Amino acid sequence: MLPEFYQFQHPTKMIYGEGLASDFSHELESLNAKKYFMVSDQVINDLGLLDEIKKGMEQGGCTITGLFLDVPQDASIEAVEAISRQAVASGAQGLIAVGGGSVIDAAKAANFTFSHGGDLIEDYSGAGTLTEPLKPFVVIPTTAGTGSECTLVAVIYDVENKMKMVFSDGYLLPDIAVLDPIMTKSLPPKLTASTGMDVLTHAVESYVGVDTSPHSEALAVAAIELVFNNLVQATENGADLEARGAMLIAANMAGTSFSHSMVGCVHSMAHATGAVSRVPHGVANGILLSHGMEFNFDDCKEKFARLAYFMGEDVSGLSVDDGAKKAIKAVQNLHKRLNALGAIPINLREAGVLEESLEAIAQKAEEDGSTIYNIREVTAENILVHLKNAY
Ligand SMILES: [Fe+2]
Repeated sequence: MLPEFYQFQHPTKMIYGEGLASDFSHELESLNAKKYFMVSDQVINDLGLLDEIKKGMEQGGCTITGLFLDVPQDASIEAVEAISRQAVASGAQGLIAVGGGSVIDAAKAANFTFSHGGDLIEDYSGAGTLTEPLKPFVVIPTTAGTGSECTLVAVIYDVENKMKMVFSDGYLLPDIAVLDPIMTKSLPPKLTASTGMDVLTHAVESYVGVDTSPHSEALAVAAIELVFNNLVQATENGADLEARGAMLIAANMAGTSFSHSMVGCVHSMAHATGAVSRVPHGVANGILLSHGMEFNFDDCKEKFARLAYFMGEDVSGLSVDDGAKKAIKAVQNLHKRLNALGAIPINLREAGVLEESLEAIAQKAEEDGSTIYNIREVTAENILVHLKNAY
């Protein structure tokens, strides 16, 4: 059944290619900026990944006016403000972010005050605060997970008040996303597996969410197929550039999909598990995805049965119930294979969650922002059963 109304806008230009991160300066000609302030982190700098990018940009007549490497694991307000301040002082005309979700989100949020001045919290908190475009923004992801290079959201951590702030605006979308598998080659197996399970969770939740659309669904199934065909290979052999590239594309497709249709109860539980027990986002999603599918089973089984095919399962002649169960089993099997590689914990206990924390996690999951987009109502009581199953 088609939605009564939906819209789909995706202005970010995506370019994909091996070695592209050191040879994309011609793409910047359309952006009307020659001077860029670069945002990244120390690990990426130590890996030498920034040198080739800088060289390539300089050969194309662009200048890097400065470099910010102090983005913490959760992008903080302080880091965002420092980036903006330093970028303005350096005389930059645009921003380039090279990193994972935190680096990209920090640069994304810094573009508010870098472009238009004012105060980050007072002037730009919440959704849709902008009336005109931001300065040019280029992103080169070094993980295949968040899809932040193609979402209109920046999540920033308020250290003082211990809470995550969400900034959302269509103008936050980067102008160009450069997907180069060489940039993710050094990602260790644990991060490859957990960020990859985050991609899968984005795609599955976007596909079945209350705000999904034919456009979101198409990108979600394509992403799911790529994850099932490439995540184990990318985890086993980081130098497999074909698998690395496929995961970058999957992350981008799943990101574009959920940016339009949002995520659901798996993310509610994962956010809560992260907040209460500091379990990394992708690790929590990997553990909780099949349990969230069980939670939504009655409302989503036709869709799960369809997804089983894209997960590589033979569903011919099966009933809807059996087809849907095959999809859940396929997710569990993928997770088990990654666990067997030593790349990801199998349950919440192994991830370090204390059993007595489950009730607090359930309560936070009920209150989480993703909960309103889940097809079935999430309460602390009904989700606790599934958190216990995941323990
Ligand atoms: Fe996620």
